[in-house]
Amino acid sequence: MEKEIKVGLLGCGTVGSGVYKILEQNATSIANKSGAKLTVAKVLVKDKSEELLVDVASDKLTDDFEEIINDQEIEIVVELIGGVHPAKEFILEALKSGRSVVTANKELVAKHGHELLITAREMGVDIYFEASVGGGIPIISPLKEDLAGNKITNIMGIVNGTTNYILTKMEQEGAEFSDVLAKAQELGYAEANPTSDIEGHDAAYKLAIVASIAFESKVDIDDIYIEGITGITKEDILYAQELDYKIKLLAIGKEDNGIEVRVHPTLVPIEHPLANVNDVFNAIFVEGNAINEVMFYGPGAGQMPTGSAVVGDIITAARNVNFSAQGRISCTCFEQKEVIAQKEVMSSFYLRLEVLDNPGVLGKITGLLGEHQVSIESVIQKGRSNDTVPLVLVTHQVKEGDLNAALEKIASLSDVKEVASLIRVEEY
Ligand code: HSE
Repeated sequence: MEKEIKVGLLGCGTVGSGVYKILEQNATSIANKSGAKLTVAKVLVKDKSEELLVDVASDKLTDDFEEIINDQEIEIVVELIGGVHPAKEFILEALKSGRSVVTANKELVAKHGHELLITAREMGVDIYFEASVGGGIPIISPLKEDLAGNKITNIMGIVNGTTNYILTKMEQEGAEFSDVLAKAQELGYAEANPTSDIEGHDAAYKLAIVASIAFESKVDIDDIYIEGITGITKEDILYAQELDYKIKLLAIGKEDNGIEVRVHPTLVPIEHPLANVNDVFNAIFVEGNAINEVMFYGPGAGQMPTGSAVVGDIITAARNVNFSAQGRISCTCFEQKEVIAQKEVMSSFYLRLEVLDNPGVLGKITGLLGEHQVSIESVIQKGRSNDTVPLVLVTHQVKEGDLNAALEKIASLSDVKEVASLIRVEEY
């Protein structure tokens, strides 16, 4: 094979070293598929004396981005440093100098993807970002290509491995959130600072990316309703089980009359394919008017799985360079659709109240719910106590604002000690 395409790698941490390894290990097959031999010509690192997870010849290492951008032989730049700055500036400079770009940077694509895609289009080059959502799971390319014939109505994912691991362990071990989080940190499954994962921000970045593609409309991260899993208790998980549900942190995008985009803990019926996605695994469930439903399942993070997605993008970018077919797939945000306010969103709800075990309490509560158009699907009340008893209710579909108005009145009843939990329920 005569043709060679040179790649500049920005960052050589966990994912970068995975990419380097895959490009070396599978070099022949990758060259056959790309139509050119792919060579990593330069690797940008913070500190050239730092030990890497892979052997990179020292003359390839640089701590200066300009060395990569000024190397005219480099045709593809792969950004794996993460965060918004300086990744954004590096990518813009690469695109503006006619290079195609591959990135795994969810925060950057969620916040500035539109600008990057438009710049790529103007320059007639590519930007690919498959690894930014779901690690090794193919989802961006399927949405942009294989499912492009559909009108997507629903995209729902378990897109954060840390929270899925915590919820799975809480369910399997009957443990509380804080105990499982501490253990997950000890085992290295959760970050020392887990805020972005447990508060739902990581999932929201990923939702902004896939919802923009699915609904062909730019979704701003600020328009996403976000609720994390820190308030989930083992009691809620047990009641959910009794009602034939699992509790999962879902990133949900729906389109009906406008777009709904939300990340929150959700009761998922046990027969739903997402209910059986456990531990650190991720999955994205998509409904379209031609496909009906399809689910993508796999490892949502990790050196080699994420490397797999990045290398897939590098091969596509290289093929396009090789066949002068860059810029084929660009921004697909053709319209600016309205994002529905959360109080207008329709959903069923799981409610756990702590109430005094007095005659007529249930009647008062269901009466107030009825006044606000909230109808009840099921009720669990257990045990007699001199103190309070839990009252668990699952509602039919209701407008979120109406339920909140009813709950305000319910919370002020003297028999109601606490509205302990309020969790949305997904139907199937
Ligand atoms: N922190 C993410 C997770 C992995 O827990 O799934 C990278 O997106």
